[in-house]
Amino acid sequence: DTDSESEEGEQGSESEQLVIGFSQVGAESEWRTANTKSIQNAITDAGHELKFSDAQQKQENQIKAIRSFITQKVDAIVFSPVVETGFETVLQEAKDADIPVFLADRSVDVEDDSLWVTFLGSDFVEEGRKAGNWLVEELAEEEGPVNIVELQGTVGSAPAIDRKEGFEEIINQEDKFEIIKSQTGDFTRAKGKEVMEAFLKSDGENIDVLYAHNDDMAIGAIQAIEEFGLIPAEDITIIGVDAVKGAFEAMADGKMNVTIECNPLFGPQLVDLIEQHFEGESLDKRIAVEESMYTMDQAEELLPTREY
Ligand code: AHR
Repeated sequence: DTDSESEEGEQGSESEQLVIGFSQVGAESEWRTANTKSIQNAITDAGHELKFSDAQQKQENQIKAIRSFITQKVDAIVFSPVVETGFETVLQEAKDADIPVFLADRSVDVEDDSLWVTFLGSDFVEEGRKAGNWLVEELAEEEGPVNIVELQGTVGSAPAIDRKEGFEEIINQEDKFEIIKSQTGDFTRAKGKEVMEAFLKSDGENIDVLYAHNDDMAIGAIQAIEEFGLIPAEDITIIGVDAVKGAFEAMADGKMNVTIECNPLFGPQLVDLIEQHFEGESLDKRIAVEESMYTMDQAEELLPTREY
């Protein structure tokens, strides 16, 4: 349409085809594979070209991938940082090359916020608070002590730091709750199982609650609990985060109590934001993904409707 072209100029009229480099954390969980698919599909469905790199949960791989995107002169970089710190230099290199960076899912702990355009992701502290609030209500009648073991996510990652912080903020308001063991399970089933086995070996029957920073670790831990001879969700209350299908299946089987939703399907929203940026719109620095919480009694009914 010539009218709008003359009014808006070339840039504002049509969204151009972009080359987008996407540096993803890894493939550590059900959540992550759903997130990767959602972002990859949204980029290619919108007609853009995708360059994808899986960091296998290693920061050095991400730094290399971003440098390679810069050398290849991509138009934009989508970046889900494995850990929060240590990315200043490479982000500055992207800025110097005039390549806008969009943080997806996880944020960085970097003072200069001009190093990225916007951060689209969940509020992990709030997820931790939701887990804490659920537990406080669920065990309102318990006198205590309530002994909690915690399976943390990847050390130094935003979701591990924030989910711990939010959860502790709530449970520390009552003396009866105590985290007796806390260790990383790296967000994987295998590590979740292994660490839970160690927790059971040292504290066995004393464990009342498991708070796992994601469902995959909770599912691994459920196996460990069964093998140890205890009944998951009865002898040990089990809280996970993500709301992946595997958690709904475990809840429908009566083996897990609750999962706090962390929605990975924000690919289309992310691509909209990238296009808006290239159309000259200015974006908020922080954009949140909306999410909920699901308990065991809702699992059977909702399982068929879950998309990830
Ligand atoms: O950053 C989001 C977290 O990363 C998810 O909760 C977890 O499953 C994933 O590995």
